[in-house]
Amino acid sequence: MIEQKLRPRRMRITENIRAMVRETSLSVKDFVYPIFVVPGENVKEEIPSMPGCYHLSVDRAVELAREISCLGIPSVEVFGLPEYKDEIGSSAWDMNSPVQRAIKAIKAKVPELAIVGDVCLCQYTNHGHCGQLCGHYVDNDATLKLLQKVAVSQAEAGADIIAPSDMMDGRVAAIREALDEKGFANVSIMSYAVKYASGYYGPFRDAADSAPQFGDRRAYQMDPANSREAMKEVALDIAEGADIIMVKPALAYLDVVRQVRDSIHHPVAVYNVSGEYAMVKAAAANGWIDEKRIVLETLTSMKRAGADIIITYHAIDAAKWLKG
Ligand code: PBG
Ligand code: ZN
Repeated sequence: MIEQKLRPRRMRITENIRAMVRETSLSVKDFVYPIFVVPGENVKEEIPSMPGCYHLSVDRAVELAREISCLGIPSVEVFGLPEYKDEIGSSAWDMNSPVQRAIKAIKAKVPELAIVGDVCLCQYTNHGHCGQLCGHYVDNDATLKLLQKVAVSQAEAGADIIAPSDMMDGRVAAIREALDEKGFANVSIMSYAVKYASGYYGPFRDAADSAPQFGDRRAYQMDPANSREAMKEVALDIAEGADIIMVKPALAYLDVVRQVRDSIHHPVAVYNVSGEYAMVKAAAANGWIDEKRIVLETLTSMKRAGADIIITYHAIDAAKWLKG
């Protein structure tokens, strides 16, 4: 017979004991809620592949931003669907585009919210790639000039944090330089430093109308098989001046999150992406899983892996559950 002198179960006997030895905590202050703004007025349309998420006109986005802030969520990330698309994505830096108008309006009406602006071109180009094309290839250095314009336009609108998601080399340095030159030294950069070419972005591309019209993004986003390469991307973005380092997607890459956390002193963000959200919502709608339990467990696992910040479509529900 095995002698039972060592009993880890003692630390699990009551909820208060479990609470005393709990290693990881999830807080509403960890969350960033992504929103999708569209042209028009009084628009609030549910996104079919992302139940509970909406296309919002600027007025309705402000209304939601208020609710988000009242729940204690500290931040929103603004994505947009523009009124026009062209070869170089020029609506991405148009001050009259939904994103710039939404940032301005939210900053004016809900000033305490930290506003993250997503900087990329795929929602704005007619070919759906994240930069300027040269044939079928995305031209890195030509794209940097465009990304600088997008970042400055969002800072001018009132963004607190600029989040480039395009995966061009050198974009953090280019954006930092452009922001500083225009007097936005206090606007920070959250780099999508480690962004994989992932199947988990599917629902977002429907929602943002940003799927590439030919080919895929594997020539600029990272190979899901690589983690040493992730460390290389992180080192470069830190050297270029990134303030926050992001890993995206989250759930399938928590090993990478842990490696990044252990090797840098910067805040680490994860993006719990649309496909991760859609899978949970679909299973929950079928009654196959307990949504609240699964979501809180998943978000806690991201904290445990080392994330400080979680960008998640579950933020509103999770904020309510954490309160209740
Ligand atoms: C593109 C971009 C993507 C997401 C945000 N910005 C992915 C892509 O289309 O490559 C994905 C977000 C999500 O899936 O929730 N710049
Ligand atoms: Zn893009």
